[in-house]
Amino acid sequence: MRPTDLVNDVADVLFTREQIAQKVAELGAQLSHDYAGRPLTLVSVLKGSLPFMADLMRSITIPVQIDLMEVSSYGGAVTETSGLVRILKDLSSSIEGKDVLIVEDIIDTGLTLNYLLRYLRGKNPRNISICALLDKPARRLVEIDIAYRGFEIPDRFVVGYGLDYAEFYRNLPFIGVLKPEVYSGD
Ligand code: IMP
Repeated sequence: MRPTDLVNDVADVLFTREQIAQKVAELGAQLSHDYAGRPLTLVSVLKGSLPFMADLMRSITIPVQIDLMEVSSYGGAVTETSGLVRILKDLSSSIEGKDVLIVEDIIDTGLTLNYLLRYLRGKNPRNISICALLDKPARRLVEIDIAYRGFEIPDRFVVGYGLDYAEFYRNLPFIGVLKPEVYSGD
């Protein structure tokens, strides 16, 4: 197996650390305005959303509670999602009657979020909205209403700022595209 090289494996930087910070600040300001006076619970989906959640919650200026879920999709290649979702970590607290915002790193086919939405709606929140840092609409298989969206991206597999390829590259502070040779053998 080819060793991971954080610096040389990246072909293009799509969004710099500064561009991400600016976008997260805008989203935080919008959310603080829209949810003022409402009991907002941020639900983040590990592991990819970890940096986004950490930055977004600190750019929100109204009181929020947070909760974390972890899901993984069954089967498929490393760069594909299958739509079958397994819950590895469930919510810690009840969301009944609460305003919930799902904080997601990326929406690709939409299958993961579609499953999660149905699951969380079953817990009777007051309402659920979605905040996604990245939206890859070219590959969407189910319609998803993204109330808060960071960036729309083309159909490219991206890494960094929480997003992985084979569990690596999550710690890159920017979002980029890997060189094709990194995928060879996948
Ligand atoms: P979906 O179910 O196809 O919308 O995929 C959602 C999940 O697939 C995301 O939460 C990511 O974990 C992963 N994913 C989709 N596209 C990418 C990508 O370009 N880079 C890294 N992970 C991705």
